[in-house]
Amino acid sequence: MEQSFVLPSELTKAERYEAFLRQFEALVEGVDDEISVMANASAALHEAFGFFWVGFYRVKGEELVLGPFQGSVACYRIKYGRGVCGTAWAQGQTVVVPDVEQFPGHIACSSLSRSEIVVPVFSTGEKREVRCVLDIDSEHYATFDDTDRCYLERLATVLSRTLY
Ligand code: SME
Repeated sequence: MEQSFVLPSELTKAERYEAFLRQFEALVEGVDDEISVMANASAALHEAFGFFWVGFYRVKGEELVLGPFQGSVACYRIKYGRGVCGTAWAQGQTVVVPDVEQFPGHIACSSLSRSEIVVPVFSTGEKREVRCVLDIDSEHYATFDDTDRCYLERLATVLSRTLY
């Protein structure tokens, strides 16, 4: 299997996400192991967009626990409602942070991180619960906007279908 997620540089951000989603859906077709899917999602996002840190925290009891990621080492556990990740979990919605120093309770895994987006991934079916969060950090301020939110939420829907 030879699959490159390097995308043509002349594309707009929206076009890049469109191309990414098409390719990613094909990549995870028929894969039923959640760790494998999270691992390849992290690798693909990292390769396609060059994000500083991209990975998953999985809901385990009252905490989020570090899952597959690409980037430097990160904290293992985040409590419900704490930091950007715990807030996205508690609110059940995407949190976009243009400047992490302005976010009360932000958990700094790297001093180089400047902005962040965290997108919850829900279980499918009637009981729609957050099962994990996708966390992406940038070393630049205000990297993430509504385009990122929109497409990463679409990615989260793909992940929901394949993970659970
Ligand atoms: N900044 C996150 C912690 C995880 S690291 O960014 C990888 C937070 O505040 O929840």
